[in-house]
Amino acid sequence: MAAEPRINSQRTNKLMSTILSTTNRTLSRQWYERAQASLVEGVNSPSRGSAVYQDGPVVLERGGGSHVWDIDGNKYVDFMMSFGALIQGHAHPRIVDVVTHAVANGSHFAAATPAEEVAARRFCSMVPTAEAVRFCNSGSEATMLALRLARAHTGRNKFLKFEGHYHGWYDPYCLNGNSRPADQLGPPDRPAKIPDSAGIPASTFDDVVLAPWNNVVALESILREHGRDLAAIITEPIMANMGCILPRDGYLQKVCDLAHDYGALFIMDEVVTGFRYAPGGCQEYYGLKPDLSTFGKALGAGFPIGAVAGPRAILDRLKWAEGMVLHYGTFNGHRLTMEVVAANLELLSVAGTHQQLYAMGDAAIAALRDVFRRHQLPAIVQGFGPMFQIYFTSLDAIHDYRDYCGAVDTARYSRFVHALLDRGIYMTPSNGLHWIISTAHTEADVSALIIAADAACSAIA
Ligand SMILES: Cc1ncc(COP(=O)(O)O)c(C=O)c1O
Repeated sequence: MAAEPRINSQRTNKLMSTILSTTNRTLSRQWYERAQASLVEGVNSPSRGSAVYQDGPVVLERGGGSHVWDIDGNKYVDFMMSFGALIQGHAHPRIVDVVTHAVANGSHFAAATPAEEVAARRFCSMVPTAEAVRFCNSGSEATMLALRLARAHTGRNKFLKFEGHYHGWYDPYCLNGNSRPADQLGPPDRPAKIPDSAGIPASTFDDVVLAPWNNVVALESILREHGRDLAAIITEPIMANMGCILPRDGYLQKVCDLAHDYGALFIMDEVVTGFRYAPGGCQEYYGLKPDLSTFGKALGAGFPIGAVAGPRAILDRLKWAEGMVLHYGTFNGHRLTMEVVAANLELLSVAGTHQQLYAMGDAAIAALRDVFRRHQLPAIVQGFGPMFQIYFTSLDAIHDYRDYCGAVDTARYSRFVHALLDRGIYMTPSNGLHWIISTAHTEADVSALIIAADAACSAIA
């Protein structure tokens, strides 16, 4: 990818004198008090509330480009970007234009539309293994459907998921998705199953085989026992829900080969990585051929979306027929979203777009590493290009869930991000998520981050 842009030190110095404090969040706090009267914890997902924000959420009311504004009028550079959904930043003029025109002619018909054909055609031309695609409304719906397809295709019920991977909140996926004390995890070749949620029958997890990630020896041992029963092995190509954990060289291809050796499908969950690491996602970046892949987030540029892609031989099981795989949904292929997807994919196909994401991300990563080095803090910045995470740890790299659970100081990370929130940088304090670069981010945004990070390091030292 392109060379890193250099951070303009003159501009950085100028910004240094203009950086604003964003600590006055009186209205956010008042809003949060009120919201708790009618919303559970004042929010609609625990990742937005007091589980991660120590004084309650920063309440946002406006976004433009790479920035968001809270209800107190504070302006932040946004590096969370709607958990990665906003690959074009906030209110991209093309997306605003498309939605404005489309909504004036009706929001949704729950019927066939020209837009969904355009969106699907562009999708299939970008994603290497997509002979066909089925759109739904979220990443969770996509992974749910992928598992149903895999079970129908193979005639098997069990599937294998990896520790620390998140595939949405469908019952059987809710296993070992949250950080736990390292002494609860069990041996790597027989990991302890730890449900993430109440309300799921224990028997649901009888069909789930659990394995540590990035560990071929443990996987081979587990497959010797369970491989012939598996409908699928599902994996995130880059672990994005324990921060940003990269696959070891050749690991994903090995998982794919092992799945096939045992007659199971290889499902790549590209809900986070799709359209981000390359126009065709991680399957393009790493040169892999998953049997099914799932998408969401960046595909919809801020609109609710999910998608399952694969060969006709599997996707055609959705056709209306005896023994079909059922997939209904009033909002599937939502008209406005389809217009947005079609426009977004066109934007993402413009030559140089991903190079720009990489250049900006790699510059931020390099500059952050330099900040931590100067402050002599035991922190690493892991990832590359459009997505990365900071870990306060004495390790050189985090390779899996076990490293994350045992060796990452998530409390210190939370303090660091709260210090950034007070200095005009918007990011979730949850170490399990990751920093996102959008096409709207500029060199000035990276400079603002580095200045704020410098001050935040002093604040938490
Ligand atoms: C890898 C992965 N898969 C699936 C999902 C679920 O997507 P959604 O939140 O759109 O339901 C997520 C959400 O963060 C995810 O990170």
